[in-house]
Amino acid sequence: MQVIKTIAEMQQFSLNCRRNGQTVGFVPTMGFLHEGHLSLVDQAKNESDIVVVSIFVNPTQFGPNEDLDAYPRDFERDESLCENRGVAAVFYPPVDQMYDDNFSTWVEETALTNTLCGESRPGHFRGVTTVVTKLFNAVLPDVAVFGQKDAQQAMVLRRMVRDLNFPIKMIVAPIVRESDGLAMSSRNKYLSNDERQRALSINRSLISAGELFKNGETSASVLIDSIGSEIAKNGGKVDYVKAVSQDTLQEVESLEKPSFIAVAAFFGKTRLIDNIFLG
Ligand code: PAJ
Repeated sequence: MQVIKTIAEMQQFSLNCRRNGQTVGFVPTMGFLHEGHLSLVDQAKNESDIVVVSIFVNPTQFGPNEDLDAYPRDFERDESLCENRGVAAVFYPPVDQMYDDNFSTWVEETALTNTLCGESRPGHFRGVTTVVTKLFNAVLPDVAVFGQKDAQQAMVLRRMVRDLNFPIKMIVAPIVRESDGLAMSSRNKYLSNDERQRALSINRSLISAGELFKNGETSASVLIDSIGSEIAKNGGKVDYVKAVSQDTLQEVESLEKPSFIAVAAFFGKTRLIDNIFLG
């Protein structure tokens, strides 16, 4: 497995693969890898001849009071996880390779980013769409795989790929959970044992809402209230619980059409997100 740190070498590597008739699958990450990330590698392997993983903690998607400096990093561990999973190359650029001092060009999606995490984290998605564009231009993939855990992110990036005509097949893979149901996340490392126990209320409340829905409850406010109160009862501070359309991300009052419920909640200082697709 190769570790590549410059954009020029990354492009050369991919162009060589493509000239040899190999398709390139790509999994962008911010590292501190877990089984959720590695499931995306498996999907990418199914869809392409070789897989590239990028590891880059992207400063432009963090707000001024967010956890950029504290974000967990362990490159050696990530490297061996990738190697064992059959990754061909890890793209691991330093920040100054990705952003020049006078960097001034941004990519922005303007319809799907005004709600949910876009509303709570101003500027976040502008950072994501910009860095993913740059990563696509460095890695030149045929296929890119993202996780449903970040459902809004996946929708925004799918829209970007369509709107800007990137010749890339987008795949969205299911959420991978710990055995107790907590959605895997690099940020779970921040949780104390007590917070982690209490954070299980997120998934538990989403499953209960899913059961209510199966039994015929389609009122968004009933489902949202049941989720919000279960999380609050467990000491979580709800950032948002919203039922939104799977097409437009607009809030819905009734879950008769394909929708999903998205949650963001703080346990201690740690902000966790999760979601359930319904209908
Ligand atoms: P990161 O949070 O490291 O996640 C990288 C990819 O892994 C994303 O597509 C995310 O949805 C997916 N992922 C994370 N946890 C998952 C889980 N439990 N199950 C399935 N997939 C999971 O998302 C980012 O990084 C960044 O915003 C990035 C796209 C790399 C741009 O900087």
